[in-house]
Amino acid sequence: MSEHLTTVAHVPVDTRHFIGGERIASARTFTDVSPIDGTPLGEIARGGAPEADAAVAAARAAFPGWADTPRAERARLLGAVADGVEKRLEELAVVETHDNGALLRSHRRGVMPRVAHNFRFFADRLLRLEHEDFETRGHTQHVSWDPAGPCVLITPWNAPLLLATWKAAPALAAGGTVILKPSEWSPLTASLLADIATAAGLPPGVLNVVQGYGPEAGAALVGHPDVRRVSFTGSVPTARRIAASAAAHLTPLSLELGGKSPLLVFADADLELAVDLAVQQYDNAGQVCLAATRILVEEPVAGEFTHRLAEKAARLRQGDPRDATTDLGPLVHPRQREKVDGFVRRALEAGARAVVGGPPGEGRGAARTGGPYYPPTLLTDVAQDSEIVQEEVFGPVLTLQTFTTEDEAVHLANDTRFGLAATVATGDHERARRVTARLVAGTVWVNCFYVRDLRAPFGGSRQSGVGREGGDWSFDFYCDLKTTVSAPNGWTDHA
Ligand code: NAI
Ligand code: MG
Repeated sequence: MSEHLTTVAHVPVDTRHFIGGERIASARTFTDVSPIDGTPLGEIARGGAPEADAAVAAARAAFPGWADTPRAERARLLGAVADGVEKRLEELAVVETHDNGALLRSHRRGVMPRVAHNFRFFADRLLRLEHEDFETRGHTQHVSWDPAGPCVLITPWNAPLLLATWKAAPALAAGGTVILKPSEWSPLTASLLADIATAAGLPPGVLNVVQGYGPEAGAALVGHPDVRRVSFTGSVPTARRIAASAAAHLTPLSLELGGKSPLLVFADADLELAVDLAVQQYDNAGQVCLAATRILVEEPVAGEFTHRLAEKAARLRQGDPRDATTDLGPLVHPRQREKVDGFVRRALEAGARAVVGGPPGEGRGAARTGGPYYPPTLLTDVAQDSEIVQEEVFGPVLTLQTFTTEDEAVHLANDTRFGLAATVATGDHERARRVTARLVAGTVWVNCFYVRDLRAPFGGSRQSGVGREGGDWSFDFYCDLKTTVSAPNGWTDHA
């Protein structure tokens, strides 16, 4: 077996970059580790400026041919990528679980089918993408979506292939070429995607994967003068660095940056539903940008709600993410666990009370399998201006506060620097209408959570992001929109 192949749960994964249709090694590597038990999964190529340059050059060379490929043919090839994802769904699910520790059953049932759907959806959308022509004083005005060029996609570890393809599918459909830089904590499925793209017949250079660390490979890609778009999902501090570096060439950016989203529970809500919505926020061990981690409950039902939530949260089963009965796997990395634990300890020092969970006792959870596990935690007695209420934890940690009026609920909900999502539990349609209108958020759910159609725009307000992707908004971002004005019969109006 080649020294550049690693085997993860019987699946061979190439550890090199994928540039211009070829596998390229780097002199340096980094070790990818499984959070399940700390097993090293492979020595991954550690790219930097030379690899970034090579990948952008390959994407640039492939761009004219891909941009000129008829829409129907591009759509067919993306459909073939979707077929390839479906064919290798089990392998993708297993490898992703080993790499980032998220539940195998979620990867099988929800995440990987959605990865295939990303390609099918944007292929289909491409075929319908049109704007009716305008008529102005005898002139026809035609709007077209011209592909912009090489697109750099920088993605995080919490949903690696889902987020990579949510960006790559529309970028490719639009006729752009792609350089994907996955997170160094979850590099494997991006490499499998490169194999799938090759098998599907995607021309060399259309999809490239550069592996490596953010400040090395990522920074070199983002600051490259030949890159026409940068789409990033991750943290606010990294987004600032990316924006500063993209500023040098005024490269258009799309940024999706997580948040501190609220779940508002009104006394008129179906309390069982509200409790279920709250428990759902522990999904993926809380490593979800959209998670409603601030629970705001109306005073009269707060006691009953807290009691029921605590009971359900305490019953969640934590363990090996490959096990079908596990509800919560490990966090992605020991460093993330330290970060989460630090937030919780500081909150407790500041006066918070752990109704459920809290800092694990010596070896608890972690001792069982050696991974960076953190127990589902619910904190009360937290101040609105405290760190635990204002900062994104990205772990299974929820805070609970109470309110007495609708105004106060809206005020608390909006009182952070974020604005990604908000969830409202209420049985009163009028209240739902009033409250949702006042919430600052890219997505608002009423009596439901996480349901998201790819036709809808997605993104964050305030520091949760810049721009929107999804549906035609994705094409607007990855394309240069062009208006062509034609004067029929050579007639022009100089007036
Ligand atoms: P991060 O934002 O540093 O990493 C995300 C991606 O950006 C990775 O692929 C990384 O290699 C890349 N990157 C880092 N520095 C870069 C640079 N200078 N130029 C270009 N690319 C760069 O996030 P990290 O450190 O993995 O997680 C830290 C916190 O970020 C989490 O605890 C959580 O609060 C938040 N986060 C939010 C996510 C979301 O979905 N919005 C996803 C992941 C993390
Ligand atoms: Mg990993």
